[in-house]
Amino acid sequence: MEWHLIKKNEVTSTNDVIKELAREGVPEGTAVAADRQTKGRGRRGRVWESPQEDNIYLSFLLRPKMEPQYVSMLTLVAALSVVNALAGMGQDKWNQTEDDSTFQIKWPNDIVWKDKKICGILTEMSMEAGGGYYCVIGIGINVNTEKFPPEISHMATSLRRETGLTFDREPLIRGVLEEFEKLYSVFLQKKSLAPFLAEYNKHLINRGRKVRILSEGKEEIGVSEGIDETGVLLVRKENGRIEKVISGEVSVRGLYGYV
Ligand code: BTN
Repeated sequence: MEWHLIKKNEVTSTNDVIKELAREGVPEGTAVAADRQTKGRGRRGRVWESPQEDNIYLSFLLRPKMEPQYVSMLTLVAALSVVNALAGMGQDKWNQTEDDSTFQIKWPNDIVWKDKKICGILTEMSMEAGGGYYCVIGIGINVNTEKFPPEISHMATSLRRETGLTFDREPLIRGVLEEFEKLYSVFLQKKSLAPFLAEYNKHLINRGRKVRILSEGKEEIGVSEGIDETGVLLVRKENGRIEKVISGEVSVRGLYGYV
């Protein structure tokens, strides 16, 4: 796959820009990075705050040659590529010791640093006439924002907020695309997350700890045991049975707050 990165100043949402381009027939690997978004979107219809503060608002187009049921797994592949790209920027910056799992993943695809969210991923799929489909992966990384709106300030952070340093977006954007490409080619071959399980589960926040599963107003407690090769989260319930939690249907939280 070849990346073709288009840079924009202001857009509504980089996901929308990619969708428009996809309808025009551009190839897989087309990517858009913007300085700000006027209608940045998060999952579950939430707003993604997108001020012009040198953050990353990045989307890219995939035309995977596999059945649509695999799309939700691609989001997990994207999460792992962001973690790898961040780690690849250098231990010295992150003040890490031997523990290289400092950037964590809140299943399925939030990246968490020091118990706060630093990156969100929104994957959208569109069917095409003729039965094909395409997929847009949108990645928002809080890079240089210093202040967040009060309602999210307790659960959001940025690279700058934690380090006091200012970061160039370009190398991180390139790093994410490079990492994704590597993992994506393996995923296309295997049609499974099996090759990434150990790596993903190493970064998984709350693994082996109690989590709350919130679904349709119901709440259940269980122990998070990690993902399986299809990307579902395995949660051991109090009666000892393992429940497969499917992404998109439920929200999984630790017992105390956001993570
Ligand atoms: C979430 O955590 O809810 C997902 C947030 C995804 C935000 C990114 S920023 C680039 C792309 N364009 C959007 O409108 N959303 C995604």
